[in-house]
Amino acid sequence: MRQAKILGVGMQLPERIVTNLELESMPELDTTDEWIQQRTGIEARHYTAPGESGVDLALPAAQEAIEKAGLTPDDIDFIIYATLSPDYFFPGNGCFLQDRLFGDRPVGALDVRTQCSGFIYSLTTADCMIKSGLYDHILIVGAEIHSTGLDFTRRGRDVTVIFGDGAGAVVAGPAPGDQSGILTSALYSEGKYARELWTEYPASCATSRLSHDILDQGLHYPKMNGRMVFKHAITRMSEVTHEVLNKTGHTVDDIDVVLPHQANLRINQMVAAQLGIPEKKFVNTISWTGNTTAATIPICMYDALKNGRLKENDLVLLVAFGSGFTWAASLIRW
Ligand code: ACO
Repeated sequence: MRQAKILGVGMQLPERIVTNLELESMPELDTTDEWIQQRTGIEARHYTAPGESGVDLALPAAQEAIEKAGLTPDDIDFIIYATLSPDYFFPGNGCFLQDRLFGDRPVGALDVRTQCSGFIYSLTTADCMIKSGLYDHILIVGAEIHSTGLDFTRRGRDVTVIFGDGAGAVVAGPAPGDQSGILTSALYSEGKYARELWTEYPASCATSRLSHDILDQGLHYPKMNGRMVFKHAITRMSEVTHEVLNKTGHTVDDIDVVLPHQANLRINQMVAAQLGIPEKKFVNTISWTGNTTAATIPICMYDALKNGRLKENDLVLLVAFGSGFTWAASLIRW
């Protein structure tokens, strides 16, 4: 069976940079630069301009990934689009991206809703489609706009300070030979913790999807049990790393580069310590991106490539944890 590999990577961040000091200057948010840096490692994040959509960010990221892969949009057979913040309730963002990228050429588009693990779920789906021979070149996008849905009062400050907007994209395609490419993946969810990190409304299971009462209570904002998420993240990210290593006969010492989800720098430092992997092998972008959820790992990958931290033949670990709860890992021979 043929292997699949990542052929090109692109990214796009909105122009506007929002520093911790800007958040500190909002009296109702009641936060400080010091608190945010100490607890999360975040210094700044990007917010979209009014009217800028998730697909507006995804499009240039996708175009760059296609170009870096040495391909043109005509070569792309399928789109997988991961986001927890779609532009509309329906249809999915993949359809809007199909229109912007391909116009009159119909291309299949699948939206993936597994939050911070969304990129690894999407990459794994693409891997299986390429291995099976169904498609050759698949565009995988992770893109989020959090800034338009955050609670900028004290009530929401724990969540609000961690999120940023952005998009990352990769093109996956068949790998020559069987030495390089995506070696294996593991994907999990545990829905008993779904309500520990979620946005409850608008809800189609409610009598009224949205009401003045819901808005007055702020039930349309994301809510998080931060400490519980933190603890589960460390345990599950370590566990799933061992799983993909065991499945491929590797050990932690074989890993050259870790591209982890960026929810909190302290989580990644603790995962590194628990696994016994030197922190210098972890690529962290959180200080300037915040948590961009499904966009995080392709942005991290882009940054690693740009800075020469990702080289041919490296053994690369992708690992993520987030809302659902969901968690996932992939091991790639670059
Ligand atoms: N500024 C100032 N003070 C704050 C802020 C803030 N932004 N947020 C919370 N606080 C206060 C709290 O009110 C509390 O005050 P109190 O002691 O007087 O009651 C104190 O700080 C400690 O609050 P905690 O919530 O216990 O703080 P913690 O150290 O747990 O840090 C954080 C919070 C950063 C959110 C952390 O829990 C975390 O990173 N959790 C994991 C996040 C994560 O991994 N998310 C998953 C991905 S997101 C996704 O999937 C969509």
